[in-house]
Amino acid sequence: MKSTQLAHSLISDKLFGGEVVIDATAGNGHDALFLANLIGVSGTIYAFDVQKDAIKNTRLKLQETDYFESLRLIYSGHEKMRESISAEHHGRIAVIMFNLGYLPGGDHSITTLKETTLEAISQGLELLAPEGIMTIVCYPGHKEGKNESILVDEYIKKMDSNKFEFCKYINETASGNAPFLIKIKKQ
Ligand SMILES: C[S@@+](CC[C@H](N)C(=O)[O-])C[C@H]1O[C@@H](n2cnc3c(N)ncnc32)[C@H](O)[C@@H]1O
Repeated sequence: MKSTQLAHSLISDKLFGGEVVIDATAGNGHDALFLANLIGVSGTIYAFDVQKDAIKNTRLKLQETDYFESLRLIYSGHEKMRESISAEHHGRIAVIMFNLGYLPGGDHSITTLKETTLEAISQGLELLAPEGIMTIVCYPGHKEGKNESILVDEYIKKMDSNKFEFCKYINETASGNAPFLIKIKKQ
């Protein structure tokens, strides 16, 4: 199973409708649509991306659904997460998804970067509700992704285990550069 599919399967029984969630890397809107289907019309989804095309693609993907009103598209880096999320939602976020790397079918030079990714993860962990889940799909198969994956891995291992528990899902039969998934749960 691909890491992105696994992330969906780990989240799908955690959302029941009406939650506030974040897609930290909107891309082509697949994750945003997945989340929107789970939280329904009474939920709120914040979706970040630094590329106009990604914002457009995500808008188009949700436009034809009943959930468009739930979507708050943010054309900005996820490292601005704290200031971009309504204060009333701080500490109430049920799920945050990071699918790192570059936009498939887009400009591969525009990719998530280790410094801003770590800043966004740190802010996201503060914003999560108790029992909230963060998933991070890492792609060590390209140069920036390799450095980013190593630093994300190190960051997660240093988290306070009284506050967060984490699991790492990696396909040991695949090459050393295969994508992997981290799931963090806030205690
Ligand atoms: C692998 S794609 C995401 C796929 C997406 N979740 C989907 O379901 O289609 C990674 C995305 O991260 C975006 N990105 C890069 N740097 C970012 C940043 N600092 N903040 C938010 N998004 C960023 C890229 O523009 C790209 O669209």
